[in-house]
Amino acid sequence: MLHLRSRLFSWFSMLTLVISLGLSAFMAAEASADATEANATPVAAPIANVISPNYPIASPTTAVSEHLLKKIQASKVLVVYFSTSGHTKQVAEATAQILQAPLYAITPAQPYTEEDLADADTARTRVEQDNPNLRPAILGKVEQMADYEVVFLGYPIWKGQAPRIISTFLESYDFTNKIIVPFCTSYSSPIGDSDLKLHAFAPLAGWLEGMRFAPGSDSGAVDYWLHHLTLSPN
Ligand SMILES: Cc1cc2nc3c(=O)[nH]c(=O)nc-3n(C[C@H](O)[C@H](O)[C@H](O)COP(=O)(O)O)c2cc1C
Repeated sequence: MLHLRSRLFSWFSMLTLVISLGLSAFMAAEASADATEANATPVAAPIANVISPNYPIASPTTAVSEHLLKKIQASKVLVVYFSTSGHTKQVAEATAQILQAPLYAITPAQPYTEEDLADADTARTRVEQDNPNLRPAILGKVEQMADYEVVFLGYPIWKGQAPRIISTFLESYDFTNKIIVPFCTSYSSPIGDSDLKLHAFAPLAGWLEGMRFAPGSDSGAVDYWLHHLTLSPN
């Protein structure tokens, strides 16, 4: 019951944040329209169009998204990732570089070998993904996790879901009132419900909608994503 109330409170706070950001974006747009009329000063182009010229024109939610991004940029951000062949690491590095945030790599206590990663019934990864109760151990810890307000969390899709070591990570810290921004890479699968399934391991966090990247995604794709962040529907 207490958890439910805290969670409702946390979501209510997030909703209030987004509504007030949207409102202030609207008011800022009105004010800038007035200023333009009065001074005939050209209004600056939207940030997304300037930074991401190769990507589609901004959607109507962009004003809120950009304010959400600015809020995130003003927060203490940590970019966390787990990666065995480097694709998720590449997206995580681009994210950290754009946000000027520190990176933390989730390192398995028992490294994954080629056999572990092989597509065989008996492979370690298959056994782990088939058992939701398994928690592969992590080497080391994030120092001063309490200081971070926003945690970007990257993982590869394994059998349609996040690797079990991501559950280990989420259960290792208190994410109350932190914002978690999930992202993943996969060969071809969509993110599916892999991000939503992670909510249960940090129920008191505010979760943003997850994003899937194809292997080899460049920093332009990451930049576009960062300008279109939205709250998770759950
Ligand atoms: C055990 C295992 C399971 C995988 N399952 C999927 C899958 O269900 N769908 C998919 O599109 N790719 C799957 N892949 C491919 C990875 O998601 C993809 O190569 C990812 O970008 C790897 O990220 P990394 O280089 O950061 O480890 C799987 C890879 C491994 C090793």
